[in-house]
Amino acid sequence: MANSALELSDVDAFYGDSHVLQKVSFVLGAGRLLGLLGRNGAGKSTCMNVSVGLVPPRTGSVEVFGTPVARLPPEMIAARGVALVPQGRRVFKSLTVRENLMVAAQTGFTGRHAPWTEATVFAMFPRLAERRSQLAGYLSGGEQQMLAIGRALMANPRVLLMDEPSEGLAPQIVAEVMATIRKLKESGLSIVLVEQSPKLVFDIADDIVILNSGRVAVISTAAALKNDDVDLRQHLGVF
Ligand SMILES: Nc1ncnc2c1ncn2[C@@H]1O[C@H](COP(=O)(O)OP(=O)(O)O)[C@@H](O)[C@H]1O
Ligand SMILES: [Mg+2]
Repeated sequence: MANSALELSDVDAFYGDSHVLQKVSFVLGAGRLLGLLGRNGAGKSTCMNVSVGLVPPRTGSVEVFGTPVARLPPEMIAARGVALVPQGRRVFKSLTVRENLMVAAQTGFTGRHAPWTEATVFAMFPRLAERRSQLAGYLSGGEQQMLAIGRALMANPRVLLMDEPSEGLAPQIVAEVMATIRKLKESGLSIVLVEQSPKLVFDIADDIVILNSGRVAVISTAAALKNDDVDLRQHLGVF
């Protein structure tokens, strides 16, 4: 597929003897937003970790804009333009906001389009600018999420993976995070948004993949799936 930003093909991944992804295949189209859904333990985070090289797949391929990256080390995949906003945010709590951003800047992709700098991240998240010298551990959950997103952007990715960015945040803050994701999509980034709740994802996603027990259960456009109660109930247990 010529215009695929990220493509997993027949990916099998294990933790020790535990076979957690089985023949997983899906495509994130360039400039599109793919919502990756599934119950807790379905394999969503493992798909993200495979995509950035933290969990090498045992078999199968991962391609970034047509270039194979499976089994490359994480820093080489980052250099190809893939960045992850990890589940649980994982900011460096004993570093300042500014230091968190600087760490990521050094490892990043230096393509021709490199709009993200400390200044542009602070322009997008004014609250982080106000707190630039504070330790990240003292930020609220929402601010830490903004910082995790800002840190990923500092690598100037072409593909942004966001693993449950709404987790543990109040509804008002979730709305802010979703508005940010919408802006990033409008800027042309190709995005995977992992969530457990379809409600958050349907409004913003172009495409949906549902994982169930480490396998792809559903691939659909968001529009077609939105009213498909059967699939949603069967694989997500909602409605
Ligand atoms: N580091 C790990 N070691 C062993 N098993 C793991 C590890 N991380 C996740 N798992 C298991 O792999 C499966 C998929 O987990 P995960 O990808 O985190 O699912 P999700 O993100 O959809 O909740 C689950 O059964 C989980 O318990
Ligand atoms: Mg997860």
